[in-house]
Amino acid sequence: MKTKYSILTGITPSGSGEIHIGNYFGAVAPFLELQKKADKVYFFIADLHALTTVQDRQQLQENVENQVLSYLACGLDPEKVIFYRQSDIGLHPELQTILNNVIPLGLIKRCHAYKDKLEKEVKEEQINMGLFNYPILMAADILLYDADFVPVGDDQRQHIEITRDIAGYFNKTYGQTFKLPQIFNIKETARLVGTDGKRKMSKSLNNYIAVFESEEVVKKQIRSCFTDPKRLKPTDPGRVEGNPVFIYHDLINQNKREVAELKERYRAGKVGDVEVKEKLFKALMKRFAKERQAYQVLKAEPEKIKEILQKGAKQAREQAEKKMMLVREKIGITNKYSFFRYDRYNYD
Ligand code: TRP
Repeated sequence: MKTKYSILTGITPSGSGEIHIGNYFGAVAPFLELQKKADKVYFFIADLHALTTVQDRQQLQENVENQVLSYLACGLDPEKVIFYRQSDIGLHPELQTILNNVIPLGLIKRCHAYKDKLEKEVKEEQINMGLFNYPILMAADILLYDADFVPVGDDQRQHIEITRDIAGYFNKTYGQTFKLPQIFNIKETARLVGTDGKRKMSKSLNNYIAVFESEEVVKKQIRSCFTDPKRLKPTDPGRVEGNPVFIYHDLINQNKREVAELKERYRAGKVGDVEVKEKLFKALMKRFAKERQAYQVLKAEPEKIKEILQKGAKQAREQAEKKMMLVREKIGITNKYSFFRYDRYNYD
């Protein structure tokens, strides 16, 4: 019999939330695969975590909107996945407050997010407590749901280890309460090179190709793409290997014959960059036609999105409340005078 397991992961809406092809193939597509496999999948927008860096109201609202729409348009299945916003479940910060008391300061001081900031230009006085406490909120995110596996990128590994430490400290102090989550071993997806041909594709470096932007914008992004720097004229033989335009063709263009033929002509100096890019643009529009269409449809139906998030929050909260009841029992916050029932929340 298949063993039942749950996975949980979150994304922080600290960037603009718009997805580029690097995000799509590196994070979204692997997630879409995972959602089919696990018995229970929690996926949430870590909007409280975003507050550590985004302190512009409108920006945060837009980021969240873009992320929600992007994931749904790409095929996140709200029937299969418990999809919610972190801030809709007040129990995350409640558990964080409790966990604050079982973690030694030194452990948190060793965390990358904080240490890296310190090593850069930033002084300790300028680091907000949200950033410092980031791993504790993250531990609460995970431990509330008894998640078996947490699929995250390498940069988040340490946070999962700390979550395990925190769970361990708590269990030692109060008795078995939390399940220790495991890092989900996603095969390390190669970092997609950006249109500058040098660095990893990223929104902040402005070297990306968007999935949901207007055709004009995407066209411009593709046109500005770096190709073979040694090739001066279309009649010069060009290099295909390591050439971002061809890396993207391989990834996106479903017409493999066209790609093979383009490569051959490129090597022989028989095709210009303009044509290769034009074909890439067409292939991209074709590859993401369904998603782009879905994005527009969803964007025009805010009530439907609201319903999806409300349903997700309700399901998540049921689980989180059960766990919090147990936590409250274990730590002795409840006693014979307690009247607290997790019914102070009104979900509907
Ligand atoms: N910190 C994660 C990131 O930036 C997002 C996140 C928040 C998360 N809470 C989580 C991921 C809990 C997994 C589990 O990518």
